[in-house]
Amino acid sequence: MRIAIDGPAGAGKGTLAERLARHYGLPFLDTGLLYRAIGRLMVDAGADLDDPAVAGGYAERLQAADLKRGDLRGRAAGDLASRVAVHPPVRAALVDFQRAFAARPGGAVLDGRDIGTVIVPDADVKLFVTASAEVRARRRADELAAGGAAPDYGQILAEIRARDARDSTRTVAPLMPAADAVVLDTSALDRDQVFAAAVAIVDARRPA
Ligand code: DC
Repeated sequence: MRIAIDGPAGAGKGTLAERLARHYGLPFLDTGLLYRAIGRLMVDAGADLDDPAVAGGYAERLQAADLKRGDLRGRAAGDLASRVAVHPPVRAALVDFQRAFAARPGGAVLDGRDIGTVIVPDADVKLFVTASAEVRARRRADELAAGGAAPDYGQILAEIRARDARDSTRTVAPLMPAADAVVLDTSALDRDQVFAAAVAIVDARRPA
């Protein structure tokens, strides 16, 4: 069973994807890590993130060990990822690895922006997990506040909107629901409700 999960930053798709993978005993690939690692490697090297050919070279040389870096989480790496992700040579270099992961016997769960549209268009189940920008900003601000920080809600909301705009308007593999995706709006749901809704969708669609 191949499960494709897409959606904007901060909608809860990563948490959901991991939980679904555990529930169904499937391997899980967080594809955002690929783009995040490329962004970090380029910054380390002082490379130009906005140069498509240079960024594509980093994508071609990406190693499994690069995905284990400790600095891939968080908004800063996410923003670098979103910048390198606009380049067609970067996306092209990552397709085979992601498709091979999806083709594992027994299936897999992948989360990202273009899984249901480009990487695994014949996935058994496609979920598009979303929430309003305001709700996503509020959740992120609350998380940061719980960690002892003094977050600026307005700034977080502006960052989320900017990232949504960049991910949705790029020419190659923009963020959008596949025609046959089930859209799961998590704005008014907590994590357990999102998980329960997703399991119901998967169980209704999984092959007999
Ligand atoms: O899912 P994430 O927040 O880790 O993704 C970070 C950025 O990487 C996201 O803003 C756009 C890019 N990305 C992408 O273009 N395609 C994917 N399949 C996954 C991530």
